[in-house]
Parts: sequence; structure tokens; C-alpha cells
Amino acid sequence: MKKIYFDVLDSTNSYLKDNYEKYENEDVIIANIQTKGRGRFDRKWVSNNDICLSILFKGNNFNHSIISSVAILKTLNDLNIECSIKWPNDIYVNMKKISGVLIETIYESNEKKCDIVGIGLNMNSNEITNSIGILDNVSVDKEYVIDILLNNYRSILSKSMEYIKKIYTNNFLLKNRIVEYNNKNYIVLGITDDFKIILKNDNEILKLSSNEVSLKL
Ligand code: BTN
Repeated sequence: MKKIYFDVLDSTNSYLKDNYEKYENEDVIIANIQTKGRGRFDRKWVSNNDICLSILFKGNNFNHSIISSVAILKTLNDLNIECSIKWPNDIYVNMKKISGVLIETIYESNEKKCDIVGIGLNMNSNEITNSIGILDNVSVDKEYVIDILLNNYRSILSKSMEYIKKIYTNNFLLKNRIVEYNNKNYIVLGITDDFKIILKNDNEILKLSSNEVSLKL
């Protein structure tokens, strides 16, 4: 994975969306400062000396939602930070968010061109967003964390889906929790093979995909 650095970008995902043709499979765009970071569901992503990067994947069909979560989880575990995955791909430490992933797929005339996997991993906490950072837990250099993260990503790409799913489900924060969806309470049973979340109450069982729902803890 080749690292390409920018001092300032609006968003590493937006930049790659506009410029993916110039780059190779598995190139990584890293911005020191992001002025218009984006999250899922058109939310803002605020960062301050945190890790903001996007990895370009051309012409393959990996499930990056599950792979990215496991790569981030492993990276934090390598730094001796305990964490859990909140479906689909948020990472939490002590019930506070430390990382989020925005995956965007580019199509041209119905043909898939590439996946852009944007990872925001906090080095610092932020009181306004109530998030936590790596530096709240260990003293470590940002570049070192990026290298571990990319090595983990690369190594997980070569593992079987069965192995990756096992790590994901073993660290799945929402399991057996009560969550609210459409003003009703459900218990979370788990995730399906195609990565939908399974919710159950007395009346129904729902299987929802990650672009349909955002669940609060
Ligand atoms: C979320 O939790 O909603 C996803 C946040 C993803 C943020 C990262 S930071 C690098 C990349 N560039 C962006 O604009 N967003 C992603």
C-alpha cells in the first residue's frame, strides 16, 4: 500500500472520488488536515491532528465494511487498547467512539470502478463530539499507528471471510443490546452473512442493511 501525503484536503474520500483514475489499486491518500471531512449519512467528520485516510481498491470485491472494522480493531489491540465494533463499522473504546469508516463505491455507466475506504481514527479526544482518542490511552506516534493499520489491513485481506467474521462477531458491541428503531425497541440478535443486522421484538424480526439504519447505543 503506497502512502501519498497531503497537508490539507477537503476530504480524502472526496479527493479520491475525483481523482481515482490517477492512482493505483491500494494507494492510500492521507491528509494532515481535513477541512470538510464526511461521515455516514452526510454527517460531518471533525478531526484535529487525527488520522484521516482513504484507501483505493480497484477491481476487486472484498467486503470492506467488515475488513476495515477488523483492521482497526486489531490495530488498537496491538496498541493494548481494548475496543469493540459497533455495527457496521464504528469502533468504540469505553463506550466512546474512536473511529469511523465511510465506504463509497464509484460506478460509471453501471460498471463498478472502485471502492474508496475512508478511515477516521482519532488520536485525540473531542469533548464536543464526545469521542475518545488513542493518545488518551497510550503515547504513540501518529505515523506509527498508520503503518500498523495499513499492515493489518493488508494482512486481513489475505485471510478467509470465516476468520474475519469470527473476529468481528467476537467483538460485536451491540449483541443482545436493546436498540431503538422507528420508535420501537428491539433486541439485537447478530448479523447475517450478508452483513445485515438482525433485530427482534415480540412482533417481528427485521434484517436491516447499514445504509437503511443508524442505531444509537
Ligand atoms: C462515520 O463514522 O460516519 C464515518 C467517518 C469517516 C471519516 C473518514 S476521515 C477520512 C475519510 N475522509 C472523509 O471525508 N471521511 C472519511
